[in-house]
Amino acid sequence: MTVLITGGAGYIGSHCCVAFLQAGHDIVVVDNMSNASQVSLERVAAITGAKVSLETADIRDQSRMEEILKQYRCTAVVHFAGLKAVGESTKIPLAYYDNNVVGTHRLLSAMANCGVKQMIFSSSATVYGDPQFLPLTEDHPTSAVNPYGRTKLMIEEMLRDVAASDPSWRFGILRYFNPVGAHESGLVGEDPQGIPNNLMPFITQVADGRREELSVFGNDYDTPDGTGIRDYIHVIDLVEGHLRAHEVLGSGSAPSNCFAVNLGTGNGYSVLEMVKAFERASNRQIRYSIAPRREGDVAQCFANTEFAEKLLNWKAERGLEDMCRDTWNWVCKNPRGYETVA
Ligand code: NAD
Ligand code: WQD
Repeated sequence: MTVLITGGAGYIGSHCCVAFLQAGHDIVVVDNMSNASQVSLERVAAITGAKVSLETADIRDQSRMEEILKQYRCTAVVHFAGLKAVGESTKIPLAYYDNNVVGTHRLLSAMANCGVKQMIFSSSATVYGDPQFLPLTEDHPTSAVNPYGRTKLMIEEMLRDVAASDPSWRFGILRYFNPVGAHESGLVGEDPQGIPNNLMPFITQVADGRREELSVFGNDYDTPDGTGIRDYIHVIDLVEGHLRAHEVLGSGSAPSNCFAVNLGTGNGYSVLEMVKAFERASNRQIRYSIAPRREGDVAQCFANTEFAEKLLNWKAERGLEDMCRDTWNWVCKNPRGYETVA
């Protein structure tokens, strides 16, 4: 009864390993380490006191995936592995289609050959495109404006087709809003390489002096302070949602064998509200200047959480203060991310 966690050495995956181990599951991680450090899993072991099996492998290597599924007698997969940078996806789209779409296809083929038919998949609120109404419900029309988003949509469709072909498959498609924060121990957290694309890691690097100032991408949106509004969710709440989804899939109590559900808080915060909250948590000033809008950004994006509450009996419990405090704790304890200990 082992759960295979692909991309388990990455940001969300490593927190998910903690949650699954603490809930008593056996896990095996498959990661090609393209955006991860082995230290993250050493830290997972330190938090949980459990042994973490890592297989350094690529999900596109179907025969290797079959060996691993058989060797560990896996019964379910939580699938995080993939590339995730929107800007990069417009520069190297083929790498995105290969890692994300081909990778998931090979992984599913391996699972089919091994009789493993349960998967949780990391999708994204990006599949809703420019919101036609808010808060976003799961039946909001989907569209994508960049290759990264298109890979998520294609994978969602692939999963629905596989589910329709054979009722014994079970899929939980989890659409994440904006995951932030870190484990409260400060032992695992987000460790972006190079210049961060996302707001929270950028703010933390201004707070700790690594970057001069934050560029606020647009202050002329139709929002109360003119800056973009997002639904930030603490990574611990997010991975608890995975645990619940795993239980619901396993029990067969889901209304269908392929569901898509939002994982967000339902609250929206603007860029300037995030800056102020982080200033309070870190007791540092965050210098910023207003820059032009970033291409492809929407004004507002936040979740309707009713379906998640009903289906998963789950709801995010941590607030903005917790998100900022835990992020700052992680950064202070690991000023150079996982390299700090190297
Ligand atoms: P991450 O980059 O930290 O984790 C992804 C992991 O997958 C990394 O450890 C990487 O080394 C591994 N990986 C990549 N390609 C692989 C391959 N072909 N074979 C094996 N391993 C491979 O990213 P994250 O933030 O933890 O995101 C996890 C998942 O959640 C991704 O699928 C991402 O698209 C999705 N997601 C993330 C966010 C976010 O804001 N972080 C939002 C929505 C959805
Ligand atoms: C949040 C807000 C920016 C950086 C992206 C992907 C999505 C998902 C999560 C992965 C926006 C503003 C940001 C900066 C800024 N990713 N901002 N200055 O764009 O909601 O979502 O990450 O799987 O698919 O699209 O998140 O953190 O990049 O931006 O002003 O330096 O912060 O304009 O309003 P986003 P983000």
